[in-house]
Amino acid sequence: MEKLIVEGGRPLKGTVSISGAKNAAVAILPATVLINGKCTIENLPNISDINLCCEILKSIGAEINFLSQNSIEIDTSKINKTSIAPDITGKFRASYYFIGSLLSRFHKAQVGSPGGCNLGTRPIDQHIKGFEALGAVVDTEGGNITANGENLAGGNVYFDVVSVGATINIMLAATLCEGTTVIENAAKEPHVVDVANFLNTMGANIRGAGTDVIRVTGVKELKGGKTYSIVPDQIEAGTFMIAAAATKGDVTITNCITTHLSPISAKLEEMGVTVEENDDGDAIRVSCDKRTKKASIKTMPYPGFPTDMQPQFGVLLALSEGTGYITEGIWDSRFQYTNELNKMGANITVNGKTAVFEGVESLTGCQVASSDLRAGAALIIAGLAAKGTTEVLGIEHIDRGYEHIENKFNALGAKITREKI
Ligand code: EPU
Repeated sequence: MEKLIVEGGRPLKGTVSISGAKNAAVAILPATVLINGKCTIENLPNISDINLCCEILKSIGAEINFLSQNSIEIDTSKINKTSIAPDITGKFRASYYFIGSLLSRFHKAQVGSPGGCNLGTRPIDQHIKGFEALGAVVDTEGGNITANGENLAGGNVYFDVVSVGATINIMLAATLCEGTTVIENAAKEPHVVDVANFLNTMGANIRGAGTDVIRVTGVKELKGGKTYSIVPDQIEAGTFMIAAAATKGDVTITNCITTHLSPISAKLEEMGVTVEENDDGDAIRVSCDKRTKKASIKTMPYPGFPTDMQPQFGVLLALSEGTGYITEGIWDSRFQYTNELNKMGANITVNGKTAVFEGVESLTGCQVASSDLRAGAALIIAGLAAKGTTEVLGIEHIDRGYEHIENKFNALGAKITREKI
């Protein structure tokens, strides 16, 4: 076990380059199962969830060759297993994408239940509804999700809730199905579009990703043989934007897609932060020299304010002038980090899905624990902005989704060290 020691009070200054998107990468690796051949993936984030995806791919017969820390060649032509044990699937959420891809290519899958951050109830009924619409028979007994579909065929799926995971899983399942699948009320997140772009590059026929309606026309085979580079991580970029504002710094974030950051930029500007995008739309400068003003947000599916930025944004609100509000619109339980911020001197009250932030002038370092990935990122930002030293425990959550997080912050003038407990 390890912890991070964060020395506060240093404004972040300089340039940081964003890694490939975690939530695209953890779907694209399972998507390689659909290919009967080789492919190369670049801009892969070096995070522990990716290691787990690779472990699963190897366990079912794929061959993996790391060309560099962020680039990988995968040969999925010799996959010979369609079952994945719960002990590994339970370590992260995205393991459920192997159901869609194994079902599509081999017409059967037995995949242990997924794990992931504890954000309240995380049902998979919409995934199951989608698989069944394509003709699969799905069973969820005994800690496994078992799907069988000898005669899979395209179908119509209308999601009752907008779900990133279900949208991607049904795109995967439909890719090699005969006929056309229409997914309505689809999620529009940049990682959904990226998975569709990856599949199309490898030979799939998916149209409409990034809109409410996605049409997948089944193809017989994905031959692969191509190289694909993963989209930059919207949430990692947003995390550095908030850190720049919270430490009253001046940070240029490169290798990002500024249009993906619009909901975050708009809120920061409303709070008095200066946000400048370059003409190419791939770099953004965030600077702030005074206390930010209050704001209110409600998290929503893309292009709304992302729930995965909610805890980081909460740190800024905790330090802003006046009373701000956050309403969590996606998850039942994503305010655990507020207890930790209150230990540092924040004044936050949670009432169901809304949190009220009475802004304080400063936070004071102490020992805090991250309950999940984005809560962990938020606590690092709080430590960077606070007086004194903050010890962040539970950093295995952070390592699941942020590449070399302390190195990136330290290159901006932070002082963060990692210690064994
Ligand atoms: N939902 C259902 N039934 C389903 C699926 C989802 O009711 O079958 C509900 C969920 O309970 C939730 C809402 O629909 O209230 C949205 O859930 P979604 O399926 O979109 O979430 P997810 O696919 O499980 C992904 C990200 C999360 C991110 C959400 C929302 C991955 C691996 N995870 O989760 O990322 O919060 O979309 O954008 O892509 C993170 O990166 O920190 C993280 C938690």
